[in-house]
Order: sequence, then C-alpha cells, then structure tokens
Amino acid sequence: MNLEPAEHSGMGRKAQDGSRGAPRRVLPPALGLLLPMALLNALLYLFLAWVFIAPTPSAPASTHCPRGHFRMGQMKNCSPWLSCEELRTEVRPLKRVGEGAVKRVFLSEWKERKVALSRLTSLEMKDDFLHGLQMLKGLQSKHVVTLLGYCEDDNTVLTEYHPLGSLSNLEATLNLSKYQNVNTWQRRLQMAVDYVSIIHYLHHSPLGTRVMCDSSDLPKTLSQYLLTSNFSLVVNDLDALPLVNRSSRTLVKCGHRELHGDFVAPEQLWPYGEDMPFDDDLMPSYDEKIDIWKIPDISSFLLGHVEGSDMVRFHLFDIHKACKSQTPAERPTAQDILDTYKKVLNLLRDTVMSQTREML
Ligand SMILES: Nc1ncnc2c1ncn2[C@@H]1O[C@H](COP(=O)(O)OP(=O)(O)OP(=O)(O)O)[C@@H](O)[C@H]1O
Ligand SMILES: *[C@@H]1O[C@H](CO)[C@@H](O)[C@H](O)[C@H]1NC(C)=O
Ligand SMILES: *[C@@H]1O[C@H](CO)[C@@H](O)[C@H](O)[C@H]1NC(C)=O
Ligand SMILES: *[C@@H]1O[C@H](CO)[C@@H](O)[C@H](O)[C@H]1NC(C)=O
Ligand SMILES: [Mg+2]
Repeated sequence: MNLEPAEHSGMGRKAQDGSRGAPRRVLPPALGLLLPMALLNALLYLFLAWVFIAPTPSAPASTHCPRGHFRMGQMKNCSPWLSCEELRTEVRPLKRVGEGAVKRVFLSEWKERKVALSRLTSLEMKDDFLHGLQMLKGLQSKHVVTLLGYCEDDNTVLTEYHPLGSLSNLEATLNLSKYQNVNTWQRRLQMAVDYVSIIHYLHHSPLGTRVMCDSSDLPKTLSQYLLTSNFSLVVNDLDALPLVNRSSRTLVKCGHRELHGDFVAPEQLWPYGEDMPFDDDLMPSYDEKIDIWKIPDISSFLLGHVEGSDMVRFHLFDIHKACKSQTPAERPTAQDILDTYKKVLNLLRDTVMSQTREML
C-alpha cells in the first residue's frame, strides 16, 4: 500500500517538469495535471486488481494422456511409461532426496530431465509398494504425481520430480526471500483448497472411495504431498489407500496397530479402555470420514502465520468445528468443505478489493 504516495509524488514531479518546458499550453493547466493523475489512478487500480485478484496460475488445461502414457514439463506429446529396460539404461540416479518406510527416493536424470526414482527399501514392504504402484497407475490426474514408468522386477517407480519437495518443507520454502510474494494468505488458502480437492478426488476416485491411511500424525501426513513449482499440491505416496465400499459394506482400518493421540479421528482409537489390551480383531473398522477429521489441522498448517491467516481461520471456524464432530456421519463431506473454502476465498478477495478501491 505504501506504493501509492510514492507513485503519486513521482508522477507529480514529472507533470511539473513537462509543463515548465512547454512553450504553449493547449490544455488549461489544472486539466493538464488532473488528466495524468486520473490515468495514473486507473493504472494503479488495474495493477492492484491484478495483484489481488489474479487467480493462482495453474497448468494450462492439459488434457491428460491416455492410460499408460505421460507428459511433463514442456513435453508436447504423450510418451509411453518407461519399461524395465529403459529404466535400467536411461535413468541415472544422482542423489537421495527422501526416504520413508517403503521407498528410498533419488533425484535422477532421464534425457536431461530431472526425475524421481523410488526404490523399495525392504522386501517386507513389497505389498505396500505394489499397492502404491497400482494406485498411482489408476489415479493419474492433476491431483496425483505423474507416473513416468515402473519395473516390478526391480522394485522401482519413476515419477516427475518436484524440486520444492514435500509439504514438510513448506515453511522453510515460503520463508525464502525469493518466495515472499507467494507467502500470502491468498496463496496459502489456495493450497488448502488444493489439499481438500485431493481428498475429494480420493473419496470419488476411479478406483472407488479411497482413504488416505498413511496419515497418523501431522508430519507424516505432510510428507505424503509434494509442492509443485507452481505452488499447487499433488499427492505422492499412495501406499496405504484402502477401499470403502458401501454396497459391499466394506470399511477400513489403517494398519493393525493401536493408534494414539488426537490427530487421528476418535473412531481410530481403541474403544475398550486401558483395562482391555488392544486386539486388532476386536478393533472396529471405519470409513473415509477419518480424512475429514484431519482437514482442520492440515489446513491450519497450510495457512501458517502470515498477515491475514487469522482472518481466514476465523471464517473457516464453523466448517472446521463440524469436521471435528465426534460422530463421523455428522462431519461434512470434502465437497462441503471445498465449497466453503472457495466461498471464503472469493469473499475475502472481494473485501480486499473494495478496501483497495476506497483508498484510491
Ligand atoms: N517426485 C518427488 N519429487 C521430490 N521429492 C520426492 C518425490 N517423491 C518423494 N519425494 C521425497 O521423498 C519422501 C518420501 O517419499 P514417499 O512418501 O513416497 O516414501 P515412503 O517410503 O512411501 O514414505 P512412508 O514412510 O510414508 O510410507 C517424500 O516425503 C519427499 O520428501
Ligand atoms: C506451471 O505453470 C506453467 C504455466 O503456467 C506450466 O507451463 C507448467 O507446466 C506448470 N508446472 C507445473 C509443475 O505444474
Ligand atoms: C524464517 O526466517 C527467519 C529469518 O530469516 C528465521 O528467524 C526463522 O527461523 C525462519 N523460519 C523457518 C521456519 O525457517
Ligand atoms: C463394491 O462392491 C460391489 C459389490 O460387491 C462390487 O460390485 C463393486 O465392484 C465394488 N466397488 C469397487 C470400487 O470395488
Ligand atoms: Mg510417505
């Protein structure tokens, strides 16, 4: 906002310089000064409008490649997924960039492009690895990291590389001075919209209602999502996505061990008290509403602590409170939350715009 007086005084000086040298005045002096001022205000208005209401740049409406093919970055055409042979000969691992319980991830090079090569860490995890690969193949979309190839014989998967890494790095990344211009409540709320869009996609996916089970605490959950260079989100780790099938009355359990804490939904906790030891066979199963319970915590992390974050939190208070209903069925759907987030984003953008208009 402090940009306004500076611009005005700069313009005033220029107008004076111009009139001093002019031998003959065509316009009345007052009009000669007012006209450029009005023009400048209009320009400034347009500039501010652009700054405040420009939608988040997103990838051009890319028609997705047919199954078994991919396209990334500046590639014009869709390419078939790389085979075992191509993975072995054309992909060169450069350095390790991540590791979890299932995969070790290497920044690698393929045809002068940066790619991410994931290798199974231990054969004990092979089932999870293959499940994740099956999900990655079946859920390719703008919400999911792009699959470039795989080799089941070698236990490798190749995906698009995202240099900003996982959401675990979000604070450190947005703290860099070169990213100060995106460290705003608008962009951060847009990331929360992306996050809930991913959950909505998983709950209505081509492979049925899928639950994001690899999310028993906040850091773990954040590590499953990547931040793209455009500051949009994609889900990366799909190794634990069990199916809820209402028509066959199939519910899910996230793992076979006892869960603790209030990050997980209450129905994920052992219900029979401390006197009775945990027994997986007696543990009740649950549905996708466990993902809804976790949304307020992840969104709050995404909103962070920048100017405007608390104003956004205030507007999301009611919907987030509903997400924390003890009864799963009373929690909103991902679609309900998405609608509310988008409404708040537009409402607050309009408010900021009208405040800006008043200042001019
Ligand atoms: N395509 C990618 N681009 C950049 N970094 C990546 C990419 N894929 C994975 N990583 C990094 O590697 C980390 C581990 O990846 P991932 O979550 O897939 O492993 P995992 O073994 O399945 O994890 P978990 O322990 O949750 O099962 C990620 O959190 C991220 O930091
Ligand atoms: C980012 O956006 C640009 C153009 O807006 C697009 O060309 C590019 O593919 C996008 N990158 C990612 C990683 O989505
Ligand atoms: C952000 O940067 C400031 C100053 O450069 C530093 O004090 C702070 O610890 C950083 N925070 C994070 C999360 O990196
Ligand atoms: C859900 O169960 C029904 C009945 O058993 C089955 O026909 C259907 O294919 C299942 N849906 C998915 C997505 O697996
Ligand atoms: Mg992971």
